[in-house]
Amino acid sequence: MSDTSDEQPKIPKPPEIAVLVSGRGSNLDAIFRAIERGELHAHVSLVISSRSVAPALEIARQRGAETRVIAPKLFASRAEAGAVIVAALQDAEVEAVALAGYKPILDASVVAAFPNRILNVHPSLLPAFAGGMAPKPQADALAAGVKISGCTVHIVTADVDAGPIVAQAAVPVLDDDTVESLLARILAGEHRLLPLALEWLLSGRLRIENGHTWLAAASATQR
Ligand code: GRF
Repeated sequence: MSDTSDEQPKIPKPPEIAVLVSGRGSNLDAIFRAIERGELHAHVSLVISSRSVAPALEIARQRGAETRVIAPKLFASRAEAGAVIVAALQDAEVEAVALAGYKPILDASVVAAFPNRILNVHPSLLPAFAGGMAPKPQADALAAGVKISGCTVHIVTADVDAGPIVAQAAVPVLDDDTVESLLARILAGEHRLLPLALEWLLSGRLRIENGHTWLAAASATQR
């Protein structure tokens, strides 16, 4: 008997993710572009900004993503802000969270609610030049006279910039570099690495154990 049904095979819904931002939003934009190119199988269901005015919010709105402003400094404590962030992430049913230029230190309750599901991108080769936001790590790298710098995507844990390293991209530090030129070279690496690391996490390729990560072969994943 021939199958006369014209049912199309079901395309699985991409996993929902949230992106936390505070400023420019170039990494958020890189995430949207990677989704558009089909390199990141995800849907940005929520963008949370710690600031009410941020170019990143505009990028999110233009892409039609839901936005929320949750400014930790307007709460009595970091824990109170954390509870509101956890509720928003749970309401949006996100599978993973990306910190993309998110300035506040995330409350431990948020990390606990999404264990091994939050990624951060930092503009240095961690553990060197941990802490601080751009352009401080880049300025510190120049001041130290290092010859190689870069960026790191890591799993967010309760300790700032100290979670398991997922991926790093190195760039040379040139003799005539300024903070701005080094920052731009590192940023290009961030834009490649954060969407890639998100894809690895969401596709189940990342194994995280004893503070280290391993990447399984693509064929070994569930997708
Ligand atoms: C990036 O340099 C990132 O490494 C750091 O903050 C900056 C954010 O840039 N955490 P953008 O807002 O994504 O353009």
